[in-house]
Amino acid sequence: MLEQYLNWPRQVRDSLSKWGTWSVRGDFTHVAVFGMGGSGVVGDYLALLSLESGKYPVIVVKSHIVPSYVGEKTLAIVVSYSGNTIETIMAFENLLKSGATIAVVSSGGVLKTMAQERGVTYVEVPKGLAPRASLPSMLYSTLGLLDSSGYTLVSKSAAENSAEFLEEKVSEAVEAARDLSKWLYEEAVRAERLPVVVTHSPLEAIAIRFKNELNENSKIVVKVDIAPECMHNDVVGYEAPTTRRLAVLEVVDPSNEVGTKLVDFMRSIYSEHDAAFYRLAAAGRNVLEKAMYLSLVAGLASVMLAEMRGLDPAATKSIAMYKKKAAEIFS
Ligand code: PA5
Repeated sequence: MLEQYLNWPRQVRDSLSKWGTWSVRGDFTHVAVFGMGGSGVVGDYLALLSLESGKYPVIVVKSHIVPSYVGEKTLAIVVSYSGNTIETIMAFENLLKSGATIAVVSSGGVLKTMAQERGVTYVEVPKGLAPRASLPSMLYSTLGLLDSSGYTLVSKSAAENSAEFLEEKVSEAVEAARDLSKWLYEEAVRAERLPVVVTHSPLEAIAIRFKNELNENSKIVVKVDIAPECMHNDVVGYEAPTTRRLAVLEVVDPSNEVGTKLVDFMRSIYSEHDAAFYRLAAAGRNVLEKAMYLSLVAGLASVMLAEMRGLDPAATKSIAMYKKKAAEIFS
């Protein structure tokens, strides 16, 4: 599993070599991205990128339900690494009736067959990885599709720069992950503290990604606080919490002064309790690079933590159990 994350620069390069292969035509007012779990995160990251450079909104749908406003002006991107996730397949089936232009991203599965049968644009990513570890392939392939379709969020040259950046940063990310995983093991696992990932806007998606990686790879429960929104609800929960033992991972972008001050404020709230702190700073020249660097640290640290606990990071027994039951639930 560690290897899969260490290969991220290679995944980015492979996707870059296929940049321009896939495109769609149409006049869209927005992009809607459908997908669950490790595939759904592609939507989160596209939405994050659209905040900085998008000329249109990116809507993220992590559900089988297609919003009623989806129609002819929608470019719908359906992402499922396996191509077999029931919610995503149902969304695809509903999208076919919506009038939206659809593109499917997967490594095969039912969605590949369905897309090809319906003549829907189909973007194939390499097989054989854990969906969450395949983030660069899914994300960069989608960025390439958007760029080639005239809906650029990241240009090819910016994507190439980010590949170079990631190659240079791998060893730094490994060191950061090693340090972070040791801290999580001591201060969260052994000290039996609740891990809390706190960040500031616009890094919401990164905090969620940290949570998901720690859930799926390390098998731990994690709370997420996002400032400034958490100052309007979560803070009150810390007045009389059910546990006062917290292991707080602060994820900050040092170039965001306000964001950093907001996270500092949250530290004063957690400090009322038995809290341990770890601050992780984003590296990178733009949102894409910061997102990729932090996601790589999250992936590596969560795998290292699983290994320290003697657990298999790749196994996601509960997701498999749910997927078996889901067919029955949705039938
Ligand atoms: O990372 C994982 O294994 C999960 O979060 C999956 O991504 C999730 O269950 C959805 O499956 P898929 O990505 O194959 O659609």
